Amino acid sequence: MKNAEISVSILDADFAKIGHIIEEIEEGEADSIHLDIMDGHFVPNLSFGPGFVKSIRKLTDIELDAHLMVERPGEYLERFADAGCDSLIVHLESDADMEPVLDKIEKLGLKAGLALNPATDLHGIDGVAGRLDKILIMTVNPGFGGQKFIMECIGKVEHAKRKICELGIDAVVGVDGGINNETGRMAAEAGADFLVAGSALLNSERLPDAIRKLRKECFA
Ligand code: DX5
Ligand code: ZN
Repeated sequence: MKNAEISVSILDADFAKIGHIIEEIEEGEADSIHLDIMDGHFVPNLSFGPGFVKSIRKLTDIELDAHLMVERPGEYLERFADAGCDSLIVHLESDADMEPVLDKIEKLGLKAGLALNPATDLHGIDGVAGRLDKILIMTVNPGFGGQKFIMECIGKVEHAKRKICELGIDAVVGVDGGINNETGRMAAEAGADFLVAGSALLNSERLPDAIRKLRKECFA
């Protein structure tokens, strides 16, 4: 059975209303909240840190996925684990040796994910693929919400699914960036198990309905 999960990125949310937004995310029965952590070095933007995540953790039991767009992820793993994250997704392109980072995430008892920028070849995960719970295919260059989906990345989603089957590993493939009902359907048809969506949901009339509609349009 294909996973058909929706993860809501709150990067562009009105943080003054985050309590209400989280209630709406729960009402829309999203599977997780996607926390875009940015350090201003790995990507040219700053977002929020462990303190904000800790506040969110107090408001909901939903799965919290931290997407660490940071140069040195190893330095932040404990802090985001303590803040209540359920999974930590690091970038292959960060300047960290993946083995010790994955060792640490395993020791923390959290799920481990690896994110790949659009220009990064999937072969980059070969050495550690067996240790991953999630592979996140970026369909925008990371740093900002509201960007246009990069169509050329669709092939990488299919390739990631083939790789998982060939290696017989128990990982899921997610797609992140520019996801809406149309691009989400293409990503799901290419094999995506979970879709990360931010602006397409946050800018909708009613967030709970938009979450349900995205799942229905993409995974039905
Ligand atoms: C971009 C982030 C994405 C982004 C998704 O660097 O990793 O999660 O916030 O937002 P939309 O859906 O608006 O592209
Ligand atoms: Zn993200």
